[in-house]
Formats: sequence, C-alpha cells, structure tokens
Amino acid sequence: MWGGRFEAGPASVMEEITPSIDFDKRLAAQDIAGSRAHAAMLADQGIIGKADCAAILAGLDAVEKEIAAGDFVFRRALEDIHLNIESRLAEIAGPAAGRLHTARSRNDQVATDFRLWVREACGRADGGLAALQHALLAQAEAHAATIMPGFTHMQPAQPITFGHHCLAYVEMLARDRGRFADAARRMNESPLGAAALAGTSFPIDREATAKALGFSHPMRNSLDAVSARDFALEYLAAAVIAATNLSRLAGELVQWTSPAFGFVRLSDAFTTGSSIMPQKRNPDAAELVRGKTGRVLGDFVALATVVKGLALAYGSDLQEDKERVFDAADTLELCLAAMQGMVGDLTADPEAMRRAAEPGYPTATDLADWIVRVLKKPFRAAHHIAGGAVRRAEELGLRLDQLPLAELKALDPAITEDVFAVLTLDASVHSRTSFGGTAPSRVREQVAWWRERLA
Ligand code: ARG
Repeated sequence: MWGGRFEAGPASVMEEITPSIDFDKRLAAQDIAGSRAHAAMLADQGIIGKADCAAILAGLDAVEKEIAAGDFVFRRALEDIHLNIESRLAEIAGPAAGRLHTARSRNDQVATDFRLWVREACGRADGGLAALQHALLAQAEAHAATIMPGFTHMQPAQPITFGHHCLAYVEMLARDRGRFADAARRMNESPLGAAALAGTSFPIDREATAKALGFSHPMRNSLDAVSARDFALEYLAAAVIAATNLSRLAGELVQWTSPAFGFVRLSDAFTTGSSIMPQKRNPDAAELVRGKTGRVLGDFVALATVVKGLALAYGSDLQEDKERVFDAADTLELCLAAMQGMVGDLTADPEAMRRAAEPGYPTATDLADWIVRVLKKPFRAAHHIAGGAVRRAEELGLRLDQLPLAELKALDPAITEDVFAVLTLDASVHSRTSFGGTAPSRVREQVAWWRERLA
C-alpha cells in the first residue's frame, strides 16, 4: 500500500508487532459503513466519478457478504482491517477501488470506525443494564414486604425489606445507564474527513458523512479528531463503575447464598458443584462477576496509560486502544447477562431472612424513637435508655420485644405497655415511611415508579 517509498521489506519482527487485524477485524462492519459514506460523499462532491462510486459500493457489498459468510481471508501482511478491506475491494472492484482513499487516511478512518463501535457498545451496555433492572424490579415487587436484616458495618442495624435492597441496585444501575448515555452523546461526532491530521485540500462535505453515519456533526478540529481517545476512556470509565456496582451485588449474592446466611438460593442453572465435596453449591458466576471487575479496571488503566503524555496527533500507540475496549465490553456484557440470569432465577428465603433479622436488637432505634415521640425526651437521652434496655435484654437472653415491662420501667418509669407495638420487626419496617424509606408501601410506590420509567 505504501511500497513506493521503500526498497527493502520489513523485518520479520515487524510482522509480529504491527498487525492489528487479529483484533480489529471486529471493526469490519463499521469500516464498511464509513467507506460507504465516504465514497458516496466523494461522488456527490464530484471528487470521484459516479461509475467509480458505484463500483466501490458494489464491491463493498461483496466484501460485506464475504465477511458475513466467513469466506473473507484476513491477512496479517495487510496489517489491519482498513487495508484488508481495501485490498480485497481492489480485487473485486478493480481500479475504481484505488479512488476510495482520496481525502482520507487510516487515522480518521480508524477513529471513525472505533467511535461507531464504542457508540454501539454503549447501547448494548444500556440494554444489559436495563434487563438487569427489570430482573431486580421483579424481585423487589415480589418481596416488597419480605423482612431481612439491614446491615451497617456488617452488623445488624435496622430491619429492612428485601425489595428495598433490590431497588437500591435498580437506582445504581440507572446511574450506570446515565453514564453510558452521556458518553454516547458526547462521542457522537464524526472524525471522518480529518484525514491524516490536517484536513484535506479536496472539497469534501463532512456534514454529509457525519449525517450518513448517524453522528450529530463533524468534529471541529482535525488534530483532535484523529488523536482523541477520551471517548474510549469514558466508555471504559463507565464500564468499570458499572462493573464495580455489579461486584457489590455479586458479593452480596455470594454472602446470601452461603448457608451461614441462606437468604437466597440460586437456581441449579447458576450454581456449580465441587469435584470433592458432594454437598457444595458454589455461586461461581457471582464470584466471577465480582472478580472480573479487576479486569475491566485494568482495561481502563491500560488505555489511560497509553494515552497519557501522547503528543498530538496520531501515534501508533493508539492501536493499543481497541483490545482494551473490546475486552471491557465483552466482559461487562457477559457479567450483565450472568447477573440478569442469577437475579431473575434466584429464590429468596423470607423465613431465613427474618430469622437473621431477629438477633442483634435491630429495633433498638424504634425504642429510642418511641421514647422521643411519646415521652418527649431528647433523642440523646432516649438513646441512653434504649441502650440500657439492650444491655438488660442481652443479660436475660431475650429479644427487645420479649423484655418484661418491669425491666423497661426500671430504666424509665414513664414507659408503658404501648411501647411493645413498635418493637417488632414488622412494626419497625412498616413505620419507615419517609420518602425513600424501607416501608413496604414505599417500596411498592418505588416499584411502580420504576415500572413506568422502564416501560
Ligand atoms: N491499525 C491502526 C490502528 O489501529 C490504524 C491506523 C493506522 N495509521 C497509521 N498511520 N499507521 O490505530
């Protein structure tokens, strides 16, 4: 493709280090779309003839069919997807193919292809996140009133509902979707026509190619157009935050499925056995989702390191961008699918959750709140009295709601029988009706709100 300037061929190690075709063949569809838009524009602008354009477009159709059929031979000697397609096009379309690269460089070509690919990846991430939100929402609806222990510091804190817990993840995933949507919107501008780095002397129409490829406008600076990879970094940043969020849910699933908790049973489809211990039901997929977060973070760090300090405009360093993004996208999409399957299929065990919510005096705050509300004590004083009640209950080996009234009266004689109404798990959960609170009525309200949003 550039033989004119050289006398000798490349060193053999160059055949190892320069090709990107092994991975950038994934850009084939985007490369063909970019070439179609570019060829049509060149013809419309009178830069190439109509007949040549028709030959190019027909040739691109043929190349596309060969790739789809698996008949296309990708050649490492041709380095990358751009040269592979152009070379095959020349075989099919003849001399007309040689006109396609007018007013174009592989630098704006790869930037265009990659933006198109990453834009689609944002859409796929959004779809996977939405599907997982639906799965969580179904669990939230089914378990709006299922009581479980709510933890802070991994210590029993206050009773909550499993539905409320599921909805917390629905919220997190909504923000993940927002990050992908923002990134997709920002990256949706066209580098095509920036050529190598400085633009071109041909009378091209960058608005036309931008529009043909679904970009909102052409990028305004040709140097920026070929050298920017922050769109890929944004994708990776959104991906690693999403993966991090998934890892928390994954970690909870690992915990909840342990018999020590027993809150949740994953279906057989999402559980593996042990080669030695016949009783085992391992939450492998959840552990792998948790573990793969490291990989996605690694992808972000790797590309950020490639781009860091890199002078404008294009450098071959940037060829290192694609594998990291492909890996992150494959990983994230796999994790989302696995998580959606696990959450959709899991069976919660309301009895086990309730049993686990009993110990640890999770309604001690309700006792303090009652003393504030009914006896009009300051909260700090009420906190002290309730703390005394917990200590006494612990000594007697009783739950707070089993403590004899006399014991409570010993701490504050004004306490009456009425207090017991607030000391049960159910009363506690049902009382937390503040906006965003865990009361089943609030959870149902939020489920309805999300159902409408996600419809
Ligand atoms: N394979 C290259 C990449 O992935 C395409 C652009 C190459 N441009 C160049 N001047 N070598 O970035």
